[in-house]
Amino acid sequence: MRVTVKRKAHFNAAHRLYRKDWSDAKNEAIFGLCSNPHYHGHNYDFWVEVTGEIDPETGYVIDMKVLKDHVNAQVCNYMDHKNLNEQVEEFSDLNPTAEHIAFVIWTRLRKVLDKDFDLRITLFETERNCVVYSGE
Ligand code: NI
Repeated sequence: MRVTVKRKAHFNAAHRLYRKDWSDAKNEAIFGLCSNPHYHGHNYDFWVEVTGEIDPETGYVIDMKVLKDHVNAQVCNYMDHKNLNEQVEEFSDLNPTAEHIAFVIWTRLRKVLDKDFDLRITLFETERNCVVYSGE
């Protein structure tokens, strides 16, 4: 029997959407306010969903304390109050869109979770807009 456990987490970060190989005018045309050269911030909320078999000994899919520690170490402590473009290595050459941030969160957590688990990330950039990535 496979069950999904979910944990919600949060970080604040600044970003700017732009491509170095595009002119300022083209960046502004495509990315609008999000290409502001002075950056802007978001309150990012995300769900981490881990699906796996229930361990018959503990009755857990994964110990929530263990999951919380991974989420904090790999994502929250790593990204909170950072300028994603300037301070988070994965975005040195990757536009920090919500799609790419979800991908980076998934990749960092995938490395530390048992490979038998399925992993899905839902990242909210605003209350109304979210993206989902599950490794496909
Ligand atoms: Ni933005």
